[in-house]
Amino acid sequence: QESTRIYTKEEVSSHTSPETGIWVTLGSEVFDVTEFVDLHPGGPSKLMLAAGGPLEPFWALYAVHNQSHVRELLAQYKIGELNPEDKVAPTVETSDPYADDPIRHPALKVNSQRPFNAEPPPELLTENYITPNPIFFTRNHLPVPNLDPDTYRLHIVGAPGGQSLSLSLDDLHNFPKYEITVTLQCAGNRRSEMTQVKEVKGLEWRTGAISTARWAGARLCDVLAQAGHQLCETEAHVCFEGLDSDPTGTAYGASIPLARAMDPEAEVLLAYEMNGQPLPRDHGFPVRVVVPGVVGARHVKWLGRVSVQPEESYSHWQRRDYKGFSPSVDWDTVDFDSAPSIQELPVQSAITEPRDGETVESGEVTIKGYAWSGGGRAVIRVDVSLDGGLTWQVAKLDEEEQRPRKAWAWRLWQLQAPVPAGQKELNIVCKAVDDGYNVQPDTVAPIWNLRGVLSNAWHRVHVFVAP
Ligand code: HEM
Ligand code: MTE
Repeated sequence: QESTRIYTKEEVSSHTSPETGIWVTLGSEVFDVTEFVDLHPGGPSKLMLAAGGPLEPFWALYAVHNQSHVRELLAQYKIGELNPEDKVAPTVETSDPYADDPIRHPALKVNSQRPFNAEPPPELLTENYITPNPIFFTRNHLPVPNLDPDTYRLHIVGAPGGQSLSLSLDDLHNFPKYEITVTLQCAGNRRSEMTQVKEVKGLEWRTGAISTARWAGARLCDVLAQAGHQLCETEAHVCFEGLDSDPTGTAYGASIPLARAMDPEAEVLLAYEMNGQPLPRDHGFPVRVVVPGVVGARHVKWLGRVSVQPEESYSHWQRRDYKGFSPSVDWDTVDFDSAPSIQELPVQSAITEPRDGETVESGEVTIKGYAWSGGGRAVIRVDVSLDGGLTWQVAKLDEEEQRPRKAWAWRLWQLQAPVPAGQKELNIVCKAVDDGYNVQPDTVAPIWNLRGVLSNAWHRVHVFVAP
C-alpha cells in the first residue's frame, strides 16, 4: 500500500550533483541514478549531461539505450513519478523577435540565447563522425525565420542576356542531386583561448564551433548556368542574401568568388537536406549554401537571393567582420578594408577527451579529438604530446574517405598511450599537419587578433593522474 511519490520538475532539476543526488526522468518516471553514474558504459560525463532532466533527447541520439536490458537497469533506480499537472504550456512573449525560435537540444552549451549560439559538449562532438542534427553547432546572428516551404522562392538574378529565376523547392529538386560530407567551422571556433591572452570582441566559443554533416542539394554551378552565368575574365563574386533580418530590414549576407561558385570540382551546394532530413530550422530551412572548405560565415542559411556582382557583398559580415589582423591592431587603428575576407580556413585540431582539469586513471590514457583543414586539404597526420610538446606520438586517424583536393570533412583521431610511471599530471597537446604540410602555430599570442578569429594554436589540455 506504499503510494507512489510525486515530484515536480523543479525538484528533479535541483538534483544534479553527487551531494544532492543525480536524478533523471523518462516519460513520467523519476530515477535517482547517483550510484549508476560511475558505472555508465558510455562514461559518467555523458550521463551527467542529462542530470536533472529528461533522458529522451539524449537517448534519441544513442540508440544503444533502445534495448530492454537498459530499461530494466534503469527501472532499479526508480524513486517516483512526475507531477502530472507540471506540464504547463510555455508562455509566449509576442513582442520578442526570438519568441518563434525553434526548441533546442539540451546538450548544447549555449554561448548566447538571443540570437541563439551554441556548441555541442566535446565528449559528444567526436562520438560520431557525422554530427547528429540536434547537436550540430548553431551560429545565428538574428532571429530564425519561419518559412513556408510551399511558398518559398529562391531568386537568382540572371546574367545580362540570360534570365532571372524564381525557384520553388520542387524546381530545386529537379536539378541533379549531389550529396557530400562537409565539415563546417566558424571563424570564431576556440576564441575563448584567445580571450585568455587578451580581451577580444566575440562569443566565447570553446572547441565546439565545428560539426560535420552529409549535405544534399543542387550544385550552385548548375543553377547559375541556367540563369546564363559563366566564368568571366574579370573579377566577380556571387552574393548571397538570407531571409533573416534585423528590425531595420537588413538581411544576413556574404559572398564567395565566382570562380569557386562555377567550379564543379569545388562542389558548392544549394543544400535542402542535412543527414538525410530536410534542413532543421536552425540550419537554414528550407535552403542554405554549403561552400566546402570555406569558413562557416559564407554558408548562408535561409537563402533568399543570389546575384553575381563585380565586388564582394556589401554586407557587414563580409566587409566589417570575419577578417584577420596583426596582434598590434586594436579597435582604434583597425582598417577593415585593408584585409581580405576570410574564405578558406587554416589547419585546425583539438582534443575532446579527456577534458581540461579532469583526473585520468594511471596506466593508460585514451586521447580523442578532431582535425580539419580548409580548401579541401587533407589532414595527413596528428601529433600528440603528453609532456607539453617535448616528445610526440602519432595519433591513429579514422579511416573515412579523403578525396585528393576535396577533403572537405574532418578526421577524428585517437591515441592510446601509457601514462609514464610516477606522473601526477599530464600536459596533453595536439597539432595537425595538412597535405600542404601546413602546421598549427604553437602558441596563441602571436596569432591573437582583436576579433578573436582563426584561433588554431596547438590545443592543450591539463589533466591530473589518479594516484
Ligand atoms: C551506453 C545506460 C544516459 C550515452 C550505455 C549502455 C547502458 C547505458 C546500459 C550500454 C548499452 C549496451 O552496450 O548494450 C544508460 C543509463 C542512462 C544513460 C541508465 C541514464 C540514467 C546516457 C546519456 C548519454 C549516454 C545521457 C549521452 C549524452 C551513451 C553512449 C553509450 C552508452 C554514447 C555507448 C558507449 C559505447 O559503446 O562506447 N548507456 N545511459 N547515456 N550511453 Fe548511456
Ligand atoms: N546565414 C544566415 N542567413 N544568418 C546567419 O546568422 N551565420 C553564419 C552562417 N550562415 C548565418 C548564416 C555563420 S557565421 C556560420 S559559422 C554558419 O552559418 C553556422 O551554420 P550552422 O548554424 O548551421 O552551424
